Amino acid sequence: MNPAAIKEFWEAGGEHLAGLEDWKQLPMMYQMALEELHNKIKLLQSEWKHRQGYNPIEHIKTRIKEPKSILGKMQRKGLALTTDNLVREIHDIAGMRIVCAFVKDIYSLVDHLQTRDDLKVLEIKDYIANPKPNGYQSLHLIVAVPLILMEGPEWIKVEIQLRTLAMDFWASMEHILFYKYDKQVPAHVIKELTEAARAADELDKKMLGLRKEIIALSEGPAG
Ligand code: GTP
Ligand code: MG
Repeated sequence: MNPAAIKEFWEAGGEHLAGLEDWKQLPMMYQMALEELHNKIKLLQSEWKHRQGYNPIEHIKTRIKEPKSILGKMQRKGLALTTDNLVREIHDIAGMRIVCAFVKDIYSLVDHLQTRDDLKVLEIKDYIANPKPNGYQSLHLIVAVPLILMEGPEWIKVEIQLRTLAMDFWASMEHILFYKYDKQVPAHVIKELTEAARAADELDKKMLGLRKEIIALSEGPAG
């Protein structure tokens, strides 16, 4: 998102957020933190590709949460509208989604991120090992990324969602199906959706099995 778009975006919510002192600084800081993190991941992709001829990341998306959603979340959590509350309690103002080919790539990436000095992993929620009741799978991290500002360093939180292509397909479809749907979802729909999540999981496992077989073939005796 370019700076003018960010400004416009936040000004749209400005009448509600006006209670927050210096809130106008915030979108810029979150955007900068996202860019920093994106760069770190891009370098990692290059290194991976260079070392093993394989880049485990399929694609990356970033977004800044809309002011309206931030406000809604603060109200749901019963938080007074202060900059302190916003920064301390809302962890997904800046969001990054990393889509990988295989589940094991996700865990390699998480292991790697935990070893870095230039970010802090504050929280890990593993909905791959423990899917949500509806079948939702992803691995969520809250990380803090350092920004060196004119006044000094500032650690900014970013939520990272890591998924496989199959998990991303399911989660995107579920979001499309239920976006703004506020009625009770019929039991059979929930059941079928959960079955679809299981099918996505099966597909991941099948693809991983095929990959192992192909690697074994390419490493096997020539001829
Ligand atoms: P939030 O108030 O949603 O942030 O709840 P939380 O702080 O408990 O976060 P959680 O880690 O459970 O989920 C955060 C984000 O993951 C959501 O904002 C969605 O983007 C995504 N997510 C979680 N559950 C689902 C789900 O059932 N379906 C889909 N499509 N996305 C989900
Ligand atoms: Mg959250």
